[in-house]
Amino acid sequence: MSTITTIERLSQHVGETVTLRGWVHNKSSKGKLHFIQLRDGTGYCQCVAFVKNVDPQLFEQLGSVGQESSVILTGEVKADERAPGGYEIGVSGGEVLQSVDGYPITPKEHGVDFLISQRHLWLRSKKQWAVMRIRHRVMMSLRQFFDEQGFLCVDSPMFTPNACEGTSTLFEVPYFDRSAYLTQSGQLYAEASAMAFGKVYTFGPTFRAEKSKTRRHLTEFWMLEPEVAFANLEDVMQLAEDMLCRVVRDVLEHCKPELEALERDLSKLEAIQAPFPRITYAEASKILLAHPDSEFVEGDDFGAPDETILSEMHDRPLMITHYPAEVKAFYMKRDAEDPSKCLCVDVIGPEGVGEIIGGSQREEDLDELLARIRAHELPEEAFQWYLDLRRYGSVPHAGFGLGLERTVGWICGVEHVRECIPYPRTMYRIEP
Ligand code: 4AD
Ligand code: MG
Repeated sequence: MSTITTIERLSQHVGETVTLRGWVHNKSSKGKLHFIQLRDGTGYCQCVAFVKNVDPQLFEQLGSVGQESSVILTGEVKADERAPGGYEIGVSGGEVLQSVDGYPITPKEHGVDFLISQRHLWLRSKKQWAVMRIRHRVMMSLRQFFDEQGFLCVDSPMFTPNACEGTSTLFEVPYFDRSAYLTQSGQLYAEASAMAFGKVYTFGPTFRAEKSKTRRHLTEFWMLEPEVAFANLEDVMQLAEDMLCRVVRDVLEHCKPELEALERDLSKLEAIQAPFPRITYAEASKILLAHPDSEFVEGDDFGAPDETILSEMHDRPLMITHYPAEVKAFYMKRDAEDPSKCLCVDVIGPEGVGEIIGGSQREEDLDELLARIRAHELPEEAFQWYLDLRRYGSVPHAGFGLGLERTVGWICGVEHVRECIPYPRTMYRIEP
Protein backbone atom coordinates (compact mmCIF):
# COMPACT_ATOMS: atom_id res chain seq x y z
CA MET A 1 0.00 0.00 0.00
CA SER A 2 1.28 3.46 -0.87
CA THR A 3 0.57 6.59 1.15
CA ILE A 4 -2.28 8.75 -0.05
CA THR A 5 -1.04 12.32 -0.14
CA THR A 6 -1.56 15.67 -1.84
CA ILE A 7 0.54 17.59 -4.34
CA GLU A 8 1.45 20.32 -1.86
CA ARG A 9 2.98 17.67 0.43
CA LEU A 10 5.09 15.90 -2.18
CA SER A 11 8.30 17.44 -0.83
CA GLN A 12 7.92 15.18 2.22
CA HIS A 13 7.78 12.03 0.08
CA VAL A 14 10.71 12.22 -2.35
CA GLY A 15 11.83 8.72 -3.30
CA GLU A 16 8.66 7.12 -1.90
CA THR A 17 5.72 5.67 -3.75
CA VAL A 18 2.56 7.72 -3.13
CA THR A 19 -1.00 7.93 -4.38
CA LEU A 20 -2.50 11.18 -5.67
CA ARG A 21 -6.21 11.68 -6.31
CA GLY A 22 -7.40 14.39 -8.63
CA TRP A 23 -8.32 15.53 -12.10
CA VAL A 24 -6.55 15.71 -15.44
CA HIS A 25 -5.64 19.34 -16.04
CA ASN A 26 -3.85 18.63 -19.28
CA LYS A 27 -2.46 15.63 -21.11
CA SER A 28 -0.04 14.90 -23.92
CA SER A 29 1.33 11.66 -25.28
CA LYS A 30 4.53 10.71 -27.05
CA GLY A 31 4.49 7.10 -28.21
CA LYS A 32 5.26 5.03 -25.15
CA LEU A 33 4.72 7.94 -22.71
CA HIS A 34 1.68 9.76 -21.40
CA PHE A 35 2.27 13.05 -19.59
CA ILE A 36 -0.64 13.81 -17.28
CA GLN A 37 -0.79 17.25 -15.66
CA LEU A 38 -2.67 16.32 -12.53
CA ARG A 39 -4.40 18.85 -10.29
CA ASP A 40 -5.78 17.91 -6.90
CA GLY A 41 -6.80 21.30 -5.53
CA THR A 42 -3.57 21.74 -3.60
CA GLY A 43 -1.36 22.08 -6.65
CA TYR A 44 -0.30 20.85 -10.07
CA CYS A 45 2.04 17.98 -10.80
CA GLN A 46 3.26 16.14 -13.87
CA CYS A 47 2.67 12.38 -13.75
CA VAL A 48 4.52 10.37 -16.37
CA ALA A 49 3.20 6.96 -17.41
CA PHE A 50 5.70 4.80 -19.30
CA VAL A 51 4.21 1.85 -21.15
CA LYS A 52 6.56 -0.66 -19.54
CA ASN A 53 5.76 0.47 -15.98
CA VAL A 54 1.98 0.22 -15.96
CA ASP A 55 -0.75 -2.26 -16.63
CA PRO A 56 -1.60 -2.23 -20.40
CA GLN A 57 -5.26 -1.48 -19.75
CA LEU A 58 -4.43 1.55 -17.56
CA PHE A 59 -1.92 2.75 -20.16
CA GLU A 60 -4.62 2.64 -22.81
CA GLN A 61 -7.16 4.39 -20.59
CA LEU A 62 -4.69 7.15 -19.74
CA GLY A 63 -4.15 7.61 -23.45
CA SER A 64 -7.72 8.75 -23.92
CA VAL A 65 -8.54 10.70 -20.74
CA GLY A 66 -9.79 14.19 -21.56
CA GLN A 67 -9.47 17.33 -19.51
CA GLU A 68 -11.09 17.03 -16.03
CA SER A 69 -11.25 13.24 -16.07
CA SER A 70 -11.04 12.05 -12.48
CA VAL A 71 -8.11 9.75 -11.73
CA ILE A 72 -6.14 8.09 -8.97
CA LEU A 73 -2.44 7.69 -9.74
CA THR A 74 0.26 5.87 -7.82
CA GLY A 75 3.96 6.27 -8.42
CA GLU A 76 7.37 7.29 -7.20
CA VAL A 77 8.01 10.92 -6.29
CA LYS A 78 11.03 12.41 -8.04
CA ALA A 79 12.42 15.83 -7.28
CA ASP A 80 13.01 17.57 -10.59
CA GLU A 81 13.85 21.26 -10.74
CA ARG A 82 12.63 21.54 -14.33
CA ALA A 83 9.20 20.10 -13.50
CA PRO A 84 6.47 22.65 -12.78
CA GLY A 85 6.10 22.59 -9.00
CA GLY A 86 9.47 20.88 -8.62
CA TYR A 87 8.27 17.23 -8.46
CA GLU A 88 7.24 14.54 -10.86
CA ILE A 89 5.47 11.20 -10.42
CA GLY A 90 6.69 8.11 -12.24
CA VAL A 91 3.34 6.33 -12.57
CA SER A 92 3.25 2.64 -11.65
CA GLY A 93 -0.48 2.13 -11.16
CA GLY A 94 -3.84 3.76 -10.76
CA GLU A 95 -7.39 4.00 -11.84
CA VAL A 96 -9.54 6.20 -14.07
CA LEU A 97 -12.71 7.01 -12.11
CA GLN A 98 -14.42 8.89 -14.90
CA SER A 99 -13.06 9.49 -18.36
CA VAL A 100 -14.33 12.84 -19.65
CA ASP A 101 -14.65 14.13 -23.16
CA GLY A 102 -15.80 17.65 -24.00
CA TYR A 103 -15.13 19.68 -20.85
CA PRO A 104 -16.54 23.12 -21.66
CA ILE A 105 -13.57 25.24 -20.51
CA THR A 106 -10.60 24.47 -22.73
CA PRO A 107 -7.11 25.98 -22.53
CA LYS A 108 -8.07 28.40 -25.34
CA GLU A 109 -9.26 31.93 -24.50
CA HIS A 110 -12.86 32.29 -23.36
CA GLY A 111 -14.88 35.45 -22.82
CA VAL A 112 -15.39 36.48 -19.20
CA ASP A 113 -19.17 36.33 -19.56
CA PHE A 114 -18.99 32.69 -20.57
CA LEU A 115 -16.55 31.92 -17.78
CA ILE A 116 -18.74 33.61 -15.16
CA SER A 117 -21.71 31.55 -16.35
CA GLN A 118 -19.51 28.47 -15.83
CA ARG A 119 -18.26 29.62 -12.43
CA HIS A 120 -18.94 26.19 -10.90
CA LEU A 121 -16.35 24.80 -13.33
CA TRP A 122 -14.19 27.89 -13.83
CA LEU A 123 -13.04 27.56 -10.21
CA ARG A 124 -10.96 24.59 -11.40
CA SER A 125 -8.79 26.81 -13.63
CA LYS A 126 -5.28 27.60 -12.54
CA LYS A 127 -5.77 31.34 -12.13
CA GLN A 128 -8.89 30.80 -10.03
CA TRP A 129 -7.06 28.17 -8.02
CA ALA A 130 -4.38 30.73 -7.21
CA VAL A 131 -6.83 33.52 -6.34
CA MET A 132 -9.00 31.34 -4.08
CA ARG A 133 -6.00 29.98 -2.24
CA ILE A 134 -4.65 33.48 -1.68
CA ARG A 135 -8.12 34.57 -0.53
CA HIS A 136 -8.01 31.77 2.03
CA ARG A 137 -4.57 32.81 3.20
CA VAL A 138 -5.67 36.45 3.51
CA MET A 139 -8.66 35.41 5.65
CA MET A 140 -6.48 33.19 7.80
CA SER A 141 -3.84 35.85 8.22
CA LEU A 142 -6.42 38.51 9.14
CA ARG A 143 -7.92 36.25 11.78
CA GLN A 144 -4.51 35.36 13.16
CA PHE A 145 -3.49 39.01 13.31
CA PHE A 146 -6.52 39.96 15.40
CA ASP A 147 -6.62 36.81 17.50
CA GLU A 148 -2.97 37.23 18.48
CA GLN A 149 -3.70 40.76 19.68
CA GLY A 150 -6.48 39.70 21.98
CA PHE A 151 -9.44 40.59 19.78
CA LEU A 152 -12.57 38.50 20.16
CA CYS A 153 -14.44 37.45 17.03
CA VAL A 154 -18.08 38.37 17.65
CA ASP A 155 -20.31 37.87 14.64
CA SER A 156 -22.89 40.44 13.61
CA PRO A 157 -26.27 39.34 12.25
CA MET A 158 -27.12 39.22 8.54
CA PHE A 159 -30.80 40.10 9.01
CA THR A 160 -31.09 43.60 10.41
CA PRO A 161 -33.99 45.91 11.18
CA ASN A 162 -32.26 49.04 9.84
CA ALA A 163 -29.56 50.68 7.72
CA CYS A 164 -25.94 51.25 8.67
CA GLU A 165 -24.39 52.76 5.54
CA GLY A 166 -27.27 54.89 4.21
CA THR A 167 -30.72 53.89 3.07
CA SER A 168 -30.18 53.85 -0.70
CA THR A 169 -28.36 50.52 -0.96
CA LEU A 170 -30.51 48.28 1.21
CA PHE A 171 -31.77 44.85 0.22
CA GLU A 172 -35.20 44.49 1.73
CA VAL A 173 -36.38 40.94 2.37
CA PRO A 174 -39.71 39.62 3.62
CA TYR A 175 -39.39 38.52 7.24
CA PHE A 176 -42.56 36.77 8.42
CA ASP A 177 -45.11 39.56 8.80
CA ARG A 178 -42.60 42.39 8.42
CA SER A 179 -39.52 43.44 6.45
CA ALA A 180 -35.88 42.95 7.29
CA TYR A 181 -32.74 44.22 5.57
CA LEU A 182 -29.61 42.32 4.67
CA THR A 183 -26.71 43.85 6.56
CA GLN A 184 -24.57 46.47 4.79
CA SER A 185 -21.94 46.32 7.53
CA GLY A 186 -21.59 44.61 10.89
CA GLN A 187 -20.35 47.81 12.47
CA LEU A 188 -23.27 48.90 14.65
CA TYR A 189 -23.32 45.47 16.28
CA ALA A 190 -19.52 45.45 16.49
CA GLU A 191 -19.79 48.66 18.50
CA ALA A 192 -22.16 46.96 20.94
CA SER A 193 -19.81 43.97 21.10
CA ALA A 194 -16.82 46.25 21.76
CA MET A 195 -18.62 47.70 24.78
CA ALA A 196 -19.08 44.12 26.00
CA PHE A 197 -15.65 42.68 25.15
CA GLY A 198 -13.25 45.59 24.53
CA LYS A 199 -11.55 44.62 21.28
CA VAL A 200 -13.65 42.72 18.76
CA TYR A 201 -13.97 41.97 15.08
CA THR A 202 -16.75 40.74 12.91
CA PHE A 203 -16.01 38.94 9.65
CA GLY A 204 -18.71 37.89 7.27
CA PRO A 205 -20.74 38.66 4.18
CA THR A 206 -22.29 42.09 3.72
CA PHE A 207 -24.79 43.24 1.13
CA ARG A 208 -25.19 46.39 -0.92
CA ALA A 209 -27.97 46.95 -3.42
CA GLU A 210 -25.63 49.21 -5.33
CA LYS A 211 -26.54 49.73 -8.95
CA SER A 212 -22.83 49.82 -9.78
CA LYS A 213 -21.38 47.84 -12.64
CA THR A 214 -17.77 48.69 -11.89
CA ARG A 215 -14.95 46.20 -11.43
CA ARG A 216 -14.91 47.14 -7.73
CA HIS A 217 -18.52 46.40 -6.83
CA LEU A 218 -20.30 43.26 -5.73
CA THR A 219 -23.77 43.09 -4.22
CA GLU A 220 -22.51 40.47 -1.74
CA PHE A 221 -18.97 40.84 -0.41
CA TRP A 222 -17.04 39.97 2.71
CA MET A 223 -15.96 42.55 5.22
CA LEU A 224 -13.67 42.31 8.20
CA GLU A 225 -14.52 44.92 10.82
CA PRO A 226 -12.49 45.48 13.98
CA GLU A 227 -13.97 47.75 16.64
CA VAL A 228 -11.97 48.97 19.62
CA ALA A 229 -13.17 50.54 22.87
CA PHE A 230 -11.03 53.42 24.18
CA ALA A 231 -9.42 53.90 20.75
CA ASN A 232 -9.24 57.00 18.59
CA LEU A 233 -8.76 57.51 14.85
CA GLU A 234 -4.97 57.43 15.11
CA ASP A 235 -5.11 54.08 16.96
CA VAL A 236 -7.16 52.34 14.29
CA MET A 237 -5.07 53.82 11.48
CA GLN A 238 -2.04 52.24 13.10
CA LEU A 239 -3.99 49.00 13.44
CA ALA A 240 -4.94 49.05 9.74
CA GLU A 241 -1.34 49.68 8.71
CA ASP A 242 0.00 46.83 10.86
CA MET A 243 -2.75 44.54 9.59
CA LEU A 244 -2.10 45.20 5.89
CA CYS A 245 1.68 44.78 6.29
CA ARG A 246 1.12 41.48 8.09
CA VAL A 247 -1.30 40.11 5.50
CA VAL A 248 0.95 40.94 2.55
CA ARG A 249 3.95 39.44 4.35
CA ASP A 250 2.03 36.23 5.04
CA VAL A 251 0.92 35.90 1.42
CA LEU A 252 4.49 36.45 0.21
CA GLU A 253 5.71 33.81 2.63
CA HIS A 254 3.05 31.14 2.12
CA CYS A 255 1.67 31.60 -1.40
CA LYS A 256 4.71 31.47 -3.70
CA PRO A 257 3.26 28.95 -6.21
CA GLU A 258 0.00 30.89 -6.34
CA LEU A 259 1.71 34.25 -6.92
CA GLU A 260 3.84 32.61 -9.58
CA ALA A 261 0.75 31.19 -11.30
CA LEU A 262 -0.65 34.72 -11.37
CA GLU A 263 2.66 36.10 -12.68
CA ARG A 264 2.43 38.65 -9.90
CA ASP A 265 5.15 41.30 -9.72
CA LEU A 266 6.50 40.49 -6.25
CA SER A 267 8.40 43.75 -5.93
CA LYS A 268 5.03 45.54 -5.76
CA LEU A 269 4.09 43.46 -2.71
CA GLU A 270 7.51 43.62 -1.13
CA ALA A 271 7.18 47.42 -1.18
CA ILE A 272 4.24 47.25 1.24
CA GLN A 273 6.05 48.43 4.35
CA ALA A 274 5.16 50.85 7.16
CA PRO A 275 4.78 53.77 7.33
CA PHE A 276 2.00 54.38 4.82
CA PRO A 277 1.59 57.91 3.43
CA ARG A 278 -1.14 59.92 5.17
CA ILE A 279 -2.86 63.00 3.83
CA THR A 280 -6.03 64.90 4.68
CA TYR A 281 -9.01 65.31 2.38
CA ALA A 282 -8.03 69.00 2.02
CA GLU A 283 -4.52 68.06 0.87
CA ALA A 284 -5.85 65.43 -1.51
CA SER A 285 -8.33 67.99 -2.91
CA LYS A 286 -5.51 70.42 -3.66
CA ILE A 287 -3.63 67.75 -5.58
CA LEU A 288 -6.70 66.82 -7.63
CA LEU A 289 -7.76 70.40 -8.36
CA ALA A 290 -4.30 71.02 -9.80
CA HIS A 291 -4.33 67.80 -11.82
CA PRO A 292 -5.19 68.14 -15.53
CA ASP A 293 -7.02 64.78 -15.74
CA SER A 294 -9.22 65.23 -12.68
CA GLU A 295 -12.85 66.33 -12.74
CA PHE A 296 -12.94 66.55 -8.98
CA VAL A 297 -15.26 69.16 -7.43
CA GLU A 298 -14.25 70.59 -4.05
CA GLY A 299 -16.43 69.21 -1.24
CA ASP A 300 -17.46 66.03 -3.11
CA ASP A 301 -16.42 62.50 -2.26
CA PHE A 302 -13.57 61.19 -4.40
CA GLY A 303 -14.58 59.23 -7.46
CA ALA A 304 -12.76 56.13 -8.70
CA PRO A 305 -10.59 58.13 -11.18
CA ASP A 306 -9.60 60.54 -8.39
CA GLU A 307 -8.59 57.65 -6.15
CA THR A 308 -6.52 56.22 -8.99
CA ILE A 309 -4.68 59.51 -9.53
CA LEU A 310 -3.91 59.79 -5.81
CA SER A 311 -2.89 56.16 -5.36
CA GLU A 312 -0.57 56.17 -8.35
CA MET A 313 1.58 58.74 -6.58
CA HIS A 314 2.60 56.06 -4.07
CA ASP A 315 3.87 52.50 -4.01
CA ARG A 316 1.94 51.61 -0.86
CA PRO A 317 -1.58 52.14 0.49
CA LEU A 318 -2.56 55.78 0.93
CA MET A 319 -4.50 56.90 4.02
CA ILE A 320 -6.81 59.86 3.49
CA THR A 321 -8.39 61.43 6.59
CA HIS A 322 -10.78 64.22 7.61
CA TYR A 323 -13.42 64.09 4.87
CA PRO A 324 -16.29 66.58 4.90
CA ALA A 325 -18.98 65.24 7.23
CA GLU A 326 -21.65 65.65 4.51
CA VAL A 327 -20.18 62.88 2.36
CA LYS A 328 -19.74 60.41 5.23
CA ALA A 329 -21.93 58.27 7.49
CA PHE A 330 -23.99 59.55 10.44
CA TYR A 331 -22.01 57.72 13.13
CA MET A 332 -18.63 59.36 12.46
CA LYS A 333 -17.29 61.69 15.12
CA ARG A 334 -16.68 65.30 14.08
CA ASP A 335 -13.23 66.82 14.34
CA ALA A 336 -13.24 69.19 17.33
CA GLU A 337 -10.87 71.54 15.50
CA ASP A 338 -13.11 71.75 12.41
CA PRO A 339 -16.59 70.32 12.96
CA SER A 340 -17.30 70.36 9.22
CA LYS A 341 -14.86 67.43 8.94
CA CYS A 342 -15.03 64.01 10.52
CA LEU A 343 -12.45 61.81 12.16
CA CYS A 344 -12.39 59.21 9.44
CA VAL A 345 -9.98 57.42 7.16
CA ASP A 346 -10.21 55.81 3.76
CA VAL A 347 -7.34 53.59 2.74
CA ILE A 348 -6.77 53.63 -1.01
CA GLY A 349 -4.90 50.59 -2.24
CA PRO A 350 -2.04 50.83 -4.73
CA GLU A 351 -2.15 49.91 -8.43
CA GLY A 352 -5.61 51.42 -8.96
CA VAL A 353 -7.67 49.07 -6.76
CA GLY A 354 -9.43 51.97 -5.08
CA GLU A 355 -10.73 52.11 -1.53
CA ILE A 356 -10.00 48.95 0.41
CA ILE A 357 -10.73 50.25 3.93
CA GLY A 358 -13.19 52.74 5.36
CA GLY A 359 -13.08 53.60 9.04
CA SER A 360 -13.56 56.24 11.69
CA GLN A 361 -13.76 57.25 15.29
CA ARG A 362 -17.41 56.98 16.34
CA GLU A 363 -19.60 59.68 17.87
CA GLU A 364 -19.88 58.65 21.52
CA ASP A 365 -22.01 61.55 22.75
CA LEU A 366 -25.72 60.74 23.03
CA ASP A 367 -27.07 64.17 22.05
CA GLU A 368 -24.66 64.62 19.14
CA LEU A 369 -25.48 61.17 17.78
CA LEU A 370 -29.22 61.71 18.15
CA ALA A 371 -28.89 64.98 16.23
CA ARG A 372 -27.06 63.13 13.40
CA ILE A 373 -29.70 60.41 13.25
CA ARG A 374 -32.37 63.10 12.92
CA ALA A 375 -30.38 65.05 10.34
CA HIS A 376 -29.99 61.88 8.25
CA GLU A 377 -33.73 61.21 8.65
CA LEU A 378 -33.07 57.73 10.00
CA PRO A 379 -35.81 55.95 11.99
CA GLU A 380 -35.04 56.97 15.58
CA GLU A 381 -37.01 54.13 17.10
CA ALA A 382 -34.91 51.49 15.33
CA PHE A 383 -31.71 53.04 16.68
CA GLN A 384 -32.70 53.03 20.34
CA TRP A 385 -30.55 49.97 21.09
CA TYR A 386 -27.58 51.68 19.38
CA LEU A 387 -28.18 54.85 21.39
CA ASP A 388 -28.12 52.72 24.57
CA LEU A 389 -24.40 52.29 23.95
CA ARG A 390 -24.13 56.08 24.52
CA ARG A 391 -26.42 55.95 27.57
CA TYR A 392 -24.65 53.26 29.52
CA GLY A 393 -20.91 53.67 29.92
CA SER A 394 -20.13 55.46 26.68
CA VAL A 395 -16.42 55.61 25.80
CA PRO A 396 -14.41 56.88 22.84
CA HIS A 397 -14.14 54.09 20.28
CA ALA A 398 -13.14 53.53 16.69
CA GLY A 399 -12.98 50.87 14.01
CA PHE A 400 -12.87 50.18 10.32
CA GLY A 401 -14.07 47.83 7.62
CA LEU A 402 -11.77 46.05 5.17
CA GLY A 403 -13.32 44.87 1.91
CA LEU A 404 -11.98 41.35 1.45
CA GLU A 405 -12.43 40.99 -2.31
CA ARG A 406 -10.82 44.33 -3.16
CA THR A 407 -7.91 43.43 -0.91
CA VAL A 408 -7.54 40.02 -2.54
CA GLY A 409 -7.79 41.64 -5.99
CA TRP A 410 -5.00 44.03 -5.13
CA ILE A 411 -2.70 41.37 -3.67
CA CYS A 412 -3.32 39.01 -6.61
CA GLY A 413 -3.05 41.75 -9.21
CA VAL A 414 -6.50 40.75 -10.49
CA GLU A 415 -8.52 43.53 -12.11
CA HIS A 416 -12.06 42.57 -11.22
CA VAL A 417 -13.53 41.70 -7.80
CA ARG A 418 -15.82 39.09 -9.38
CA GLU A 419 -12.79 36.77 -9.58
CA CYS A 420 -12.00 37.30 -5.89
CA ILE A 421 -15.06 35.60 -4.37
CA PRO A 422 -15.99 31.98 -5.10
CA TYR A 423 -19.51 32.68 -6.39
CA PRO A 424 -19.81 36.36 -7.28
CA ARG A 425 -23.09 38.20 -6.93
CA THR A 426 -23.45 41.31 -9.03
CA MET A 427 -26.29 43.49 -10.24
CA TYR A 428 -26.83 41.25 -13.27
CA ARG A 429 -25.96 37.83 -12.04
CA ILE A 430 -26.88 35.49 -9.24
CA GLU A 431 -26.23 32.28 -11.23
CA PRO A 432 -24.78 29.74 -10.88
O1 4AD B 1 -16.47 52.22 3.40
P1 4AD B 1 -17.53 51.23 3.77
O2 4AD B 1 -18.90 51.47 3.25
O3 4AD B 1 -17.52 51.22 5.36
C1 4AD B 1 -18.40 50.61 6.19
O4 4AD B 1 -19.27 49.86 5.85
C2 4AD B 1 -18.10 50.84 7.64
N1 4AD B 1 -19.34 50.60 8.41
C3 4AD B 1 -16.98 49.93 8.09
C4 4AD B 1 -16.59 50.13 9.53
O5 4AD B 1 -16.13 51.19 9.90
N2 4AD B 1 -16.74 49.10 10.33
O6 4AD B 1 -17.09 49.77 3.34
C5 4AD B 1 -15.88 49.24 3.81
C6 4AD B 1 -15.12 48.55 2.68
C7 4AD B 1 -14.75 49.48 1.53
O7 4AD B 1 -13.58 50.18 1.81
C8 4AD B 1 -14.56 48.47 0.40
O8 4AD B 1 -13.29 47.86 0.48
C9 4AD B 1 -15.60 47.43 0.71
O9 4AD B 1 -15.94 47.57 2.07
N3 4AD B 1 -16.81 47.62 -0.13
C10 4AD B 1 -17.12 46.86 -1.19
N4 4AD B 1 -16.49 45.80 -1.78
C11 4AD B 1 -17.07 45.22 -2.85
N5 4AD B 1 -18.26 45.62 -3.36
C12 4AD B 1 -18.93 46.65 -2.82
N6 4AD B 1 -20.13 47.02 -3.32
C13 4AD B 1 -18.37 47.33 -1.69
N7 4AD B 1 -18.75 48.36 -0.89
C14 4AD B 1 -17.79 48.52 0.04
MG1 MG C 1 -16.21 53.85 2.20
